[in-house]
Amino acid sequence: MRPYVGVLGMRPRTARVKGDMPHLFDPLVIGDLRLPNRAWLSPMCQYSVDAHDGVPTDWHLVHLGSRAAGGFGLVMSEATAIAPEGRISLRDTGLWNDEQERAWARIVDFVHGQGSAAGIQLSHAGRKASTPPMLPGVDLRGSVPESEGGWQTVAPSALAVPGQATPRELPLAEIGQVVEQFRDAAARADRAGFDVIELHAAHGYLLHQFLSPLSNHREDAYGGSFNRRIRLVLEVVEAVREVWPVGKPLFVRLSATDWIEGGWDLEQSKALGQELKRRHVDLIDVSSGGLLPAQITAEPLYQVPFAHQVRFGAGLPTSAVGLVVSPAEADGIVAGGDADAVMLGREALRHPYWPQMAARSLSQPTQGLVPDPYFRSTPRD
Ligand SMILES: Cc1cc2nc3c(=O)[nH]c(=O)nc-3n(C[C@H](O)[C@H](O)[C@H](O)COP(=O)(O)O)c2cc1C
Repeated sequence: MRPYVGVLGMRPRTARVKGDMPHLFDPLVIGDLRLPNRAWLSPMCQYSVDAHDGVPTDWHLVHLGSRAAGGFGLVMSEATAIAPEGRISLRDTGLWNDEQERAWARIVDFVHGQGSAAGIQLSHAGRKASTPPMLPGVDLRGSVPESEGGWQTVAPSALAVPGQATPRELPLAEIGQVVEQFRDAAARADRAGFDVIELHAAHGYLLHQFLSPLSNHREDAYGGSFNRRIRLVLEVVEAVREVWPVGKPLFVRLSATDWIEGGWDLEQSKALGQELKRRHVDLIDVSSGGLLPAQITAEPLYQVPFAHQVRFGAGLPTSAVGLVVSPAEADGIVAGGDADAVMLGREALRHPYWPQMAARSLSQPTQGLVPDPYFRSTPRD
């Protein structure tokens, strides 16, 4: 089979000599952090597990811990809310109080013990908050009313996602509070020992709602022109950078496109990427969609070209995500110069030890990927 060398068939700009090309199992140094490889766990909410009052549980320890034991170079937490009303559902994790900070620190310690880096995705769900928990038999449509434990959602404009409750438009003073909540959560993430923060500005959540002209109809300093729509994201980045040590990597997850005419698109993503680079963001994690229902043909590697375009359009490292399954494909994305790392979602749920399997299949050493207690599979006697 012909080796996969990047979806656009382009070779990387910086690696023309054979042997120079980075591969999936090469380390990546960002700031003061050395990531042992470029196969990373994508953030995934564990919806049906009740993180009571936003406190991660033993399930989160085992879920994230087993991916660290499996060899993922970076283990990214699920979308973790910066405030109670920023949760997608009542059962989501958060990082706005001491109890949550302590619970995350325990998980971070375990992940570090396995040789992996620990990342946390900080998020506010905006108008996509207060949704029903994903439990068997629960109707997932619509919003949970306040009478049943839900809450009034907020957004840049009072525009509902079809089928969900209409959000309240955030007044200017409350936008400032959101920035403060991101800053506070970032300081807590540092104290808990996380190595990487990823700001969730994708999939139709609050920061993405500000970016897209389809969800942001404001006429003040936070809406209208491109510069005004990106203002909140930039303010959040600047606030987070004030408390997040300069040597620690800061990522932003973007939806490269809404897949809808007149919405957020690739050109705006590239332009935003340039602004993020100026504000010391280290990597853009490139996803797509999620703002409103759209026509998307999701086929293997379908988002990889976006990661490539943003990488060269913004001049920043990127990670690629979305229907990446095989080791050869993942390695080809990195070696082909489409992205600097690959995030695995559902395939990592199916195979927690994916990196070990991938290394074997790519004839790479598994040392450092296999936990010490498993390294010798032959019993002593
Ligand atoms: C159960 C589940 C939960 C998810 N939760 C999040 C999340 O918290 N934050 C996020 O940015 N993406 C989330 N995603 C999207 C994944 O991170 C990933 O981008 C998507 O699944 C595509 O990658 P895949 O094809 O490898 O699964 C979730 C996906 C799944 C399947």
